[in-house]
Amino acid sequence: MTEPAAHHDEWVRRPAAAEQGTNCTAAQYAEMYARSMADSDGFWLEQAQRLDWSRQPTKAGDWRFDPVSIEWFVDGALNICHNAVDRHVAAGNGDRIALIFEPDDPAGEVRRITYADLQAEVIRMANTLKKMGVAKGDRVTIYMPMVPEGAFAMLACARIGAVHSVIFGGFSPEAIAGRVEDCASDWIVCADEGLRGGKTIPLKDNVDAALAKASVKAVLVVRHTGGDVAMTEGRDHWYHDLSQGVPGECPCEPMNAEDPLFILYTSGSTGKPKGVLHTTGGYAVWVETTFRYTFDYRPGEVFWCTADIGWVTGHSYVVYGPLQNGATALMFEGVPNHPDHDRFWATVAKHKVNIFYTAPTAIRALMREGAEPVNRHDLSSLRLLGSVGEPINPEAWRWYSETVGKGALPVVDTWWQTETGGVMITTLPGAHDMKPGSAGRPFFGISPQLVDGDGTVIADERTGGAASGNLVIDRSWPGQSRTVYGDHDRFVQTYFSTYPGKYFTGDGCRRDADGYYWITGRVDDVINVSGHRMGTAEVESALVLHDKVAEAAVVGFPHDIKGQGIYCYVTLNAGEEPGEELAAELRNQVRREIGPIASPDHLHFTPALPKTRSGKIMRRILRKIAENETGALGDTSTLAEPGVVDTLIEGRLNR
Ligand code: WT7
Repeated sequence: MTEPAAHHDEWVRRPAAAEQGTNCTAAQYAEMYARSMADSDGFWLEQAQRLDWSRQPTKAGDWRFDPVSIEWFVDGALNICHNAVDRHVAAGNGDRIALIFEPDDPAGEVRRITYADLQAEVIRMANTLKKMGVAKGDRVTIYMPMVPEGAFAMLACARIGAVHSVIFGGFSPEAIAGRVEDCASDWIVCADEGLRGGKTIPLKDNVDAALAKASVKAVLVVRHTGGDVAMTEGRDHWYHDLSQGVPGECPCEPMNAEDPLFILYTSGSTGKPKGVLHTTGGYAVWVETTFRYTFDYRPGEVFWCTADIGWVTGHSYVVYGPLQNGATALMFEGVPNHPDHDRFWATVAKHKVNIFYTAPTAIRALMREGAEPVNRHDLSSLRLLGSVGEPINPEAWRWYSETVGKGALPVVDTWWQTETGGVMITTLPGAHDMKPGSAGRPFFGISPQLVDGDGTVIADERTGGAASGNLVIDRSWPGQSRTVYGDHDRFVQTYFSTYPGKYFTGDGCRRDADGYYWITGRVDDVINVSGHRMGTAEVESALVLHDKVAEAAVVGFPHDIKGQGIYCYVTLNAGEEPGEELAAELRNQVRREIGPIASPDHLHFTPALPKTRSGKIMRRILRKIAENETGALGDTSTLAEPGVVDTLIEGRLNR
């Protein structure tokens, strides 16, 4: 394995204030981590005690990775909606604010939803779903903007034991149809339209287009913008109509710990997106615990995670993590640069946000606007900053820490994945000093290892020491995904076949001598565009659907703002000519098939792709050319036609 080039591992001391009143000091971390390893069962059963169980679990983890079988708290029963909502009301905290809604338009109406309101809203939504015919175990697709009704819908599903599948509002009708079909979802909850940065997103229209290809029994439509949408008689129902007269009570369905909670589609290195499945008990404990410790949450604080509920970050740290902790979570409908580049900071000041959690791509974009938009606002409410979704470059880390945090706040850089359910590697605010660019130390119960190509362990928590390799996790944790919906073989194949007996993350990583982990990025054919995972194979499939395209190969390349951009090499059928018009058609094709987030940054028309004599595309070479590292192409001796490379380099330079 190669050592990553320059790294900047200087220490940044944790602020003294972060240690005051912390729920985890350095000594406590060391003790708790050691116990989580030595007595996993005892440790996790104890953490689980913060939740209400209708049947107490007597055992924590019951799992093996070869053959793969993962269960946690298997004899326990609980309902995550009860834990996120009802129990806080029952404990006399019904007046506490659960959700603050900040609309896209800063002059729009802010909504402050108490836990008692939330309970009433979730019951109304749950009973409306039941009235529509939704039953325990059914899959419900949720395609919503970032409005409280999105969270109500998720919690309502959880309440009645339905399995939600949230689809990000930026995905296309094609993508909706594929996901609805994959999990045989008979129900969709959507809004008329979404609003982002002053633009409307035609959510209901997209659902209608998707339902030309897939079919469902019913669509529940929440009125949000009031825009004009078509309603199909007998299939589509307005929420405000159908919810009329539903009962004001709806018991939380007791769920077995291993009953499915949600499916979330995510891209992999091959094939269509996978429906990552999370179950109830382990996920509930994992996100409750990781939220509590990663953000060192203190009662009364306002927590703002900027992620959309369409991504796992929104599931775990807008909805289930904060609410199970009785926290106040801010839900923001808009975007960082609307109406101006100070929107995040204006919103922090407006709602006195204490904990702010966002993605490096947003930080880099805002950094470009300089300190002035930040300094327009009083950010003194902030106590903690967080980063998630992709590696944060030290320069962006420092800007975040110094310009936003005034050099006085802890910054947590949290590494995790859709499949991990919640935070896996991070510093804890009161326990650890920081290193800009490093995620830090393993969370309780997490056993990371670096392995070489053969799977030989080159560094882990037992051996200590510095090394670089592929990141695997060698034991299960409560929030681990249990399967790929409807395709357990694919689950086993994707995560457990490369290094039998270990969970393979797909990431490369360095561990330094202080035990800090530095994620270097994906080592598979997955790219990370603005913190969103994109399978290069998916983009390729979208491109080759065009009848002029013969072949496509897609790779990532470094992008100043997005982290990675999408670079597409395209060969055309005989007689077809490249040109701007065709390029525009291809961009549209990808947007139509996947969504705007997959729009190619570069289209490189080429007469041929570099292939081995057995016909395999040499992506390593394509990556190097896209990165403009044409001097370091490595071994090209296995190329079938070496001349192809020169043509490609020329094409790149003339771009
Ligand atoms: C991939 C997972 C974590 C939820 C949002 C993304 C990359 C994520 C970090 C980080 C370096 C990170 C990894 C990972 N990633 N967080 N703090 N530092 N890389 O979830 O879409 O499942 O993507 O995002 O490459 O494998 P996801």
